[in-house]
Amino acid sequence: MKNVSMDTITQAFLDYCGEETDPRTLFLLTKMVEHAHAFAKETQLTHEEWMRGLKFLFDAGQISDNERNEFVLLSDVTGMSSLVDMIGSQHDGTSSSVLGPFHSVGAPELPVGGDLKQDNEGATVVVEGVVRGVDGALVEGAKIELWQTAENGLYYSQDAKQEDFNLCCSMVTGTDGRYAVTTVKPAPYKVPDDGPVGELFRATGRTPWRPSHLHFIVQADGYRSLVTEVFANGDPYLDRDAVFGVREDLIMDYVRHDDLDALPDGLAIEQNATIPWYKVDFDFVLAPENS
Ligand code: BEZ
Ligand code: FE
Repeated sequence: MKNVSMDTITQAFLDYCGEETDPRTLFLLTKMVEHAHAFAKETQLTHEEWMRGLKFLFDAGQISDNERNEFVLLSDVTGMSSLVDMIGSQHDGTSSSVLGPFHSVGAPELPVGGDLKQDNEGATVVVEGVVRGVDGALVEGAKIELWQTAENGLYYSQDAKQEDFNLCCSMVTGTDGRYAVTTVKPAPYKVPDDGPVGELFRATGRTPWRPSHLHFIVQADGYRSLVTEVFANGDPYLDRDAVFGVREDLIMDYVRHDDLDALPDGLAIEQNATIPWYKVDFDFVLAPENS
């Protein structure tokens, strides 16, 4: 198209897309370019501002590698990851939450009641509950993956002092749908802020903190997979999670106990438990696969 103007440039772009373009791809591209062009016009974007934005993306690429993806972090801190999650999980099950970059495939499997705390510093925390469907049926054979930071706020992959897969495990529910594990309380921590995303934080007066949380993935035949997090009631960062992951149904009490007799039966840690210990009760509710 010749003589492209501010009024015709959006349509000109769309006209360049061939008929063989996959319909969903064409729809997404159309909307993306419509919104991007409208953004430039509405803000009267200057050349310098646009180049600054492109440099930001270039820098994000430069700092990314197999271990670190600054674009995913950008998606997290702008709320895009959470928004896409919420669009994809409008059902009556447990809310989903961000996956984050610290999930490791292949964590060792513990039996129900297993001890994930091992030699980690910190008070014993018992996390216990059941997996059920939205209809209330207990789910046997659900695979639960759990990963978290140590008391110092670091995941094992960020901390040379921790062994591989420290504070990461999987567990499979039995006929009663129950899971139970002993661990330590995770700590609040900062998302990486030494790259372009950190610049964004500083330029906008934001903090990189996330409230303490336990990460879970729950998978079972016939149900939608659930990626979620459980947060600690009272955490100072619940209202300012840098990645917008907190939902009301994911905030749980860490209930203090000073009596070892109150420990649930069948915990591997029973002999070594110390007081005070803390209890977190959390049930996972899974939506049917095709909901
Ligand atoms: C995390 O929960 O580990 C996390 C999530 C998003 C960005 C960075 C870290
Ligand atoms: Fe995390």
